Amino acid sequence: MEKYLLSIDQGTTGTKVLLVNRHGRAVAESYQKHTQYYPQSGWVEHNPEEIWEKVLMGVADVLLKGRIEPEQVEAVGLANQGETVLFWNSLSGEPLYPAVVWSCRRSDQIAERWRADGAWAQKVAEKTGLLIDPYFSATKVRWMMEEVPLVQERIRQRQAYCSTLDSWLIWQMTGGAAYVTDASTAARTLLFAHRQGNWDEEILRYLEIEKDWLPQVRPTVGSFGRTNPDQFCGIQAPILVSQVDQPAALYGHLCIEPGMSKCTYGTGCFAYMNVGNEPPATKESGLLTTLVWKRGAQHTYALDGAIYAAGSAVEWGVEQLGLYRDIDELQRWSEQWYEDLHKGEAPTNLLFIPALNGIGTPYWNSEARGVFLGLSQHTDRPLMAKAMLEGIAHRVADVFVTMEQAVGQKISVLRVDGGLTKNPYLMQFQADLLGVPVEVPQINETTAMGIAFLLGEECGWWSAKDLEAQLKVGRRYEPTLDEAVRKRLRARWNKAVHLLLQMSG
Ligand code: G3P
Repeated sequence: MEKYLLSIDQGTTGTKVLLVNRHGRAVAESYQKHTQYYPQSGWVEHNPEEIWEKVLMGVADVLLKGRIEPEQVEAVGLANQGETVLFWNSLSGEPLYPAVVWSCRRSDQIAERWRADGAWAQKVAEKTGLLIDPYFSATKVRWMMEEVPLVQERIRQRQAYCSTLDSWLIWQMTGGAAYVTDASTAARTLLFAHRQGNWDEEILRYLEIEKDWLPQVRPTVGSFGRTNPDQFCGIQAPILVSQVDQPAALYGHLCIEPGMSKCTYGTGCFAYMNVGNEPPATKESGLLTTLVWKRGAQHTYALDGAIYAAGSAVEWGVEQLGLYRDIDELQRWSEQWYEDLHKGEAPTNLLFIPALNGIGTPYWNSEARGVFLGLSQHTDRPLMAKAMLEGIAHRVADVFVTMEQAVGQKISVLRVDGGLTKNPYLMQFQADLLGVPVEVPQINETTAMGIAFLLGEECGWWSAKDLEAQLKVGRRYEPTLDEAVRKRLRARWNKAVHLLLQMSG
């Protein structure tokens, strides 16, 4: 009987499910979107039960499409959307409140309160590798403890679990048999001592969070329990991998040696550089350090750069500004700009900083807002759209330049994934600004494939070396921009960002 790996990528906007065969090829795939709730400005929520339903629909769909029996599933792996967190009833599994999504800013004031003691903030940064910011789970957890009566009641009754979505989904998949998370996910909560690899007692005490509410932390690859066939489409198989989606994408690009880097161009951009088994000192650099996978007792870390607006800026360009009729029009223009660049046409003088909801790494200013600089009577819609793409590439360059300075080494190539990597002008301009080649892989689903790669290794189906031989580059963009022009563009950009930061307090 032919066996398959089941890889589930539970992301912010939807759930991708893949069935992967022994040759590392996806034989069936499914994508299920879920509802985004925006109850107030800056607030973002998900319904965990809807997400669980979508996972089940995705799994049923791939079994059907691939004509595969549940018994043919050898092992299951899960990627999760990271910092998104929920409280749920430890007896019934019922959510006590919607999941508060990573991008939700409702706990801004709690973060501010928490940051007020500079020495403590520094200590938290050293312990966790992160910064005190509403992005991470901890302040969202504290917000629910302070604001949601049902959460308070279940805490009093000692019936509260508090976890990221992975633990909740694994609990569902195993029919309530396992309450676990992995080290890469725990490392995104701001409650986890990333060197020691355990929940940090001191931080938990400070926030009055009890360890009993939290899941047990396991290595990224290993045992997360067995799926219960009655709950999980008839499948009874071991869950062998669980990981946050960005580290899974790093693995999917096989960025497994120190210095190897990837950038995912989604709603925002997520830039990661593998830095090996020891977290480097990044104090004052504005970079985050995150544990990307734990295998056995060994930790691997990456520098992490967050750019809030990328795909969201492109959507804003069409929906609010009407700069282009639709994404297809932007794509057609971009193909032309890409040709023009090769004929030696210089990038535009118009500059756009996509700080639509603050500016992340390495500046971390949540007050900053976007600007167009250099508007003239000749500025038209295409020019503004072009400047928007260039602004995204500049932000990614900000992050990688900071990383290169932090580790004292230049990256040699940037591997990329996500919807915007289809845009040839953006990718070419990215290669030009960084001065290194940008590679788009042939496979589309880098995150889900990253999980499948780890699963296959754990099952003894292949090694990382075999995968390296197999992983093909789909399109490679070589840097072509004259060095003096590149320096001038970057200097102008840096000046503009500093001006913006001055204005943003
Ligand atoms: O930190 C949030 C990030 O991991 C979410 O990624 O792909 O689910 O939007 P994605």
